[in-house]
Amino acid sequence: MSEKESVREKSGHEESVRAPVGDFPFSLDVRFESGGGFQWTALWEALDRLLDDRDGPAAFLGLPDDHDALESVLGAVGRVPDGFRRVLVLGIGGSGLGARAGLEALAPLETRGRAREVRVLSNVDPSSVADALDWFDPADTLLSVVSKSGGTIETLSQFALFADRILAFGGAKALADGVTIITDPESGPLRAMASSAGCATLDVPPLVGGRFSVLTPVGLFPLAMAGHDIARILEGARRVIDGVKGPDRSMQPTIRSAVHHIGLMHQGVSVRVLWAYCDRLASFGDWFCQLWAESLGKVGESGRVGQTPLRAVGSTDQHSLLQLFMEGPREHCLTFLRVGGPWPHLEVPDMTALAPALGEFAGKDLKDVLDALGKGTMAALLEEQLPLVDMQVPDLDEESLGALFMHFEVETALIGYVLGIDPFDQPGVETGKLFAHGLMGRTGSEDYGRQAMRLLGGRG
Ligand code: PA5
Repeated sequence: MSEKESVREKSGHEESVRAPVGDFPFSLDVRFESGGGFQWTALWEALDRLLDDRDGPAAFLGLPDDHDALESVLGAVGRVPDGFRRVLVLGIGGSGLGARAGLEALAPLETRGRAREVRVLSNVDPSSVADALDWFDPADTLLSVVSKSGGTIETLSQFALFADRILAFGGAKALADGVTIITDPESGPLRAMASSAGCATLDVPPLVGGRFSVLTPVGLFPLAMAGHDIARILEGARRVIDGVKGPDRSMQPTIRSAVHHIGLMHQGVSVRVLWAYCDRLASFGDWFCQLWAESLGKVGESGRVGQTPLRAVGSTDQHSLLQLFMEGPREHCLTFLRVGGPWPHLEVPDMTALAPALGEFAGKDLKDVLDALGKGTMAALLEEQLPLVDMQVPDLDEESLGALFMHFEVETALIGYVLGIDPFDQPGVETGKLFAHGLMGRTGSEDYGRQAMRLLGGRG
């Protein structure tokens, strides 16, 4: 059977469908395909509508071809003075998760030239912010403030603290030189502030939603500052787009995965687990959770839809979540993410003299131990007949990272279109923000503050 052909094996109740990969940056193997209840015509119609929306709400599809944005990021990176050896990114949700996911995933790679240490601060937990303030030195640390709207509570309140620190260090010039703002090209408080303070800016394309923005300056600037090859990230993303538009699209990994998961949703499978056997993909799991939850958890025409995402890390979560998947309610489907490299080589020494039980590991590469644990877990889940997708990434590099970002974005948006909801909005998160503004006393929001207090039983 040629590499381009699909592989379909059946043995007893087990079914495996492997999307053809060739030299694609990852492979995808669907076990226990969800099957029934799904119309392919509905999928192709949804895909056509999604691709047609490339110049509208689905503008993220065009990002791999946005050469101007790539050049503007590389230009901005080139203009950062050499003295800034470190970068602190302020950004939350779609403005922070993708950058952190990418930075951690690519951390072991060799970086180019003037690589900097880049950190991302998201939460306003005072302890985390205090730690970041301790780490932040305006003399050698660039502050990159990322907010598409430019008005996010967390990012603005953090910015005030860091701006104060920078102004105390070197006045208005230090603020202009030491801050890069990534926000909407025209609107929002951060854009106005950048203009008045004279800070460097990069644009978030207005049509690209926050959680779909990792391949804009939002993710590309921090990754380029860390020395990674962002052109290759975009190249990996482009390969996914080419695949879903190509002639063999029914076997393209993203389409296979989307079909599988729509089928599972129709069957009432309510939790999707992204289980990475790789610590440096833990934050990628967080990025995925936001994408899946905020895009698909909506009120559709036929009622509420969505599926709860859960991120797991192997082998750690074998000692935590696995019991629930094996014997708890049958409401989970799992996507394994396994990485071929790069890994440090750690051969386990022969320590049988200390304890005979250690002999099992003697001479093995620690990666083989991790692999055995991952495979053992998958086998156990398959024995329980849980729906499982096995994604394998031979090399976790810039290209495969870009492909993974785009794979999950297209899959999510496509499923949103099939479900008949808008995967790009998030109306459900607004009420809590309005109440928070009211509780902080924003002028005009007093009623929200009072209503929040009432709902909280007056205790606040
Ligand atoms: O996906 C989204 O749009 C949100 O999660 C946003 O990314 C998040 O709320 C942060 O918004 P902003 O970039 O405007 O600060």
